[in-house]
Amino acid sequence: TGGVITIDPGYKNTGSCESAITFLDGEKGILRYRGYSIEELAEKADFLEVAYLLIFGELPTQDELDQFHSDIKKHAVVDDDIKKILDAFPKSAHPMGVLASLTSALTAFNPTSVDVNSEEEMYNAIVRILGKFPILVAWTMRKKHGMPLDYGSSSLGYVENILQMMFKRPDQDYEQNPILVNALDKLLILHADHEQNCSTSTVRITGSSHAGLFVSLSAGISALWGPLHGGANQAVLEMLEAIKEDGGDTKKYMAKAKDKEDPFRLMGFGHRVYKNFDPRAKIIKVAADEVLSDLGVEDPILDIAKGLEKEALEDQYFVDRKLYPNVDFYSGIIYRGMGIPTEMFTVMFALGRLPGWISQWREMRMRKEPIGRPRQLYTGETYRPFKDISNR
Ligand code: SDX
Repeated sequence: TGGVITIDPGYKNTGSCESAITFLDGEKGILRYRGYSIEELAEKADFLEVAYLLIFGELPTQDELDQFHSDIKKHAVVDDDIKKILDAFPKSAHPMGVLASLTSALTAFNPTSVDVNSEEEMYNAIVRILGKFPILVAWTMRKKHGMPLDYGSSSLGYVENILQMMFKRPDQDYEQNPILVNALDKLLILHADHEQNCSTSTVRITGSSHAGLFVSLSAGISALWGPLHGGANQAVLEMLEAIKEDGGDTKKYMAKAKDKEDPFRLMGFGHRVYKNFDPRAKIIKVAADEVLSDLGVEDPILDIAKGLEKEALEDQYFVDRKLYPNVDFYSGIIYRGMGIPTEMFTVMFALGRLPGWISQWREMRMRKEPIGRPRQLYTGETYRPFKDISNR
């Protein structure tokens, strides 16, 4: 409708929506879900409680939480034909690509996830995906490692059952380890939402065309995979491993990160919104020490990470650009200590972010947001008449 169009690459200064779900203060390093601080939620709540809070806006009563979990368990199975899709992937396939495909494929077996025009249909699609997604996550990992696929046990808690589906060996009973349960619960809470980040914006804009919830989530998984976003947690470990192989020479990697000619960036550092410490990184750094010592795991990578962090925080280039460790810098160290393979780190990020994506998608649909369709400034050729191929 005419008017001035301003271009804002990466939408650094463009707001896409109003939202009542998550509050960030980048200067002060504040993160709150529906007004509750991430510090208190990580300490006092569990992941399913936080999922309920994000999606429905209130902390659940015990009865509401029990009902939510039992509704989710009713859908904690996937059509066996999903295994045929899984079988088609080579073992070398990256788990994020497998997970995006399987999540999208769920629509074929659950068409109700497409039209969610009533609260009831919306609720049914939500408990379906919360029931099925952890199975896809576990099966993606087990397939890659040649392990049988199972459903764990419906008598377990939500996070306990994820661990059992991921780690149970066919020849032994699975012993629940409270250290692992608490660590995973806390990590999933810390990843659960983060307002209009790249993958959440992808989920919103995909859903704005009224595409179904599952395919919108599949689009979000694809966006999260990128090393500038959720893929950074895997890239951090690969970088720390490289530094270790290189004799622990962090100065060389700091120099590379500052060299404009070199595309290398210090993975796990910097953030579009946080110009101070990422509050999640603070919590995860403490948890990394605790979890590794509780598990009796000595990991030289943790010392390299701490050395690199110290160096970066004292480096003028990084100080000038307000580059601090972000959520991805220490999370991989805990996942590794828990026995989760490196190529699964970003899948764990997606598992945590699932309730956030769902809550943002639901808010967008409930508010009847218009279809996302940005404008552009055209800088191409002016009109020119067609030229026959014989004259080109
Ligand atoms: C996540 O948005 C979210 O909320 C995301 C997330 C969530 O919960 O959803 O928090 C999860 O994605 C965390 C970020 C994970 N990514 C990484 O760790 C990859 C490394 N980080 C960067 O690529 C970067 O910091 C971003 C992508 C995170 C942010 O990029 P911006 O906001 O577009 O900033 P920029 O690229 O314009 O950088 C500003 C300056 C540049 O230097 P100058 O051109 O001004 O001289 O800082 C430099 C950049 O070169 N810079 C870095 C750097 N990050 C920025 N230099 C070296 N190493 C880095 N990591």
